Amino acid sequence: MAEASVVKVEKNGGISWVFLNRPEKRNAMNPQLHIEMDGTLEELETDPETKVVIIAGSGGNFCAGQDLKEFFRGLEDKPAESKRIQTLANRWRWDRLYMYDKPTIAMVEGYCAGGAFMQLVAVDFVVTADDALYSLSEVNWGIIPGALVAKAVTEAVLYRHALYYACLGDAFDGKEAVRIGLANIAVPKDQLRDETIRLANKLMQKSPEVLKATKQAMRSVRTMDVPQAYDYLHAKNIAIRAGDPERSYQQGLKQFVDDKTYRPFFEPFKLSDAASKDDNT
Ligand code: ACO
Repeated sequence: MAEASVVKVEKNGGISWVFLNRPEKRNAMNPQLHIEMDGTLEELETDPETKVVIIAGSGGNFCAGQDLKEFFRGLEDKPAESKRIQTLANRWRWDRLYMYDKPTIAMVEGYCAGGAFMQLVAVDFVVTADDALYSLSEVNWGIIPGALVAKAVTEAVLYRHALYYACLGDAFDGKEAVRIGLANIAVPKDQLRDETIRLANKLMQKSPEVLKATKQAMRSVRTMDVPQAYDYLHAKNIAIRAGDPERSYQQGLKQFVDDKTYRPFFEPFKLSDAASKDDNT
């Protein structure tokens, strides 16, 4: 992955930073970028060094959407290639990220436009600079928010806001992104990196298996009816208690009930204790 030209990966302390790396084009997504992002995310999902993935952009911008020259015009007369690239583009921006085994964060600064809303919604969390600029600009290009953008945005954002920004294409900033539910945290740009790392470090204190199951459950129940959700969540809880190598549930009970060493309302149970102790529960 080191020779990748339009995607850059940096690993540090369990965090894998994945940079869309076409700063001179404001990280607009061309076919090569889709190919590299798909391969990179596939690799990191099973990479033992990677505990959290942060998706960001090089050069002070998140992503200017699909590359209007190379992705749209360049693929117009190439139906087979267009199909192949569209499939890859959708796979990494949605299918992979939406159910990714590891926690994912988007760190947004500068511009975030159009097709970039797919990865923006598919990741678990968004930390944004408060002066970042977002736009569902498709309406200004004579197209609609395609691939899965319209669905992704209406899933994340209150319906009225989704409709407003999709129909008007107006730019909005990071604070507004938090207000409408598109981002979790907005901070001044000079605090963006530290705040994103802080969130990643908090996530790394949790049991990875429990975190993964929690993500899957929160996402999966959204499309279930109530009887299905009861049934699924019951089965999922049995599975996580049996399958969690850190035995988080048993350890947590022991630390709260017997040892009185922690209170789950305020902190995660002690992962290191769980790994080293052999309890009798
Ligand atoms: N596709 C292709 N090239 C792009 C894109 C894009 N989406 N966005 C920027 N670029 C290129 C520009 O063509 C320019 O290239 P050049 O230097 O070879 O001329 C370079 O990036 C810099 O762009 P500027 O416009 O000069 O930079 P500026 O900082 O002034 O503006 C901005 C940045 C606001 C992002 C502007 O480029 C823009 O409006 N881009 C289009 C964004 C957009 O609407 N994206 C959605 C596309 S539709 C979709 O994703 C489904």
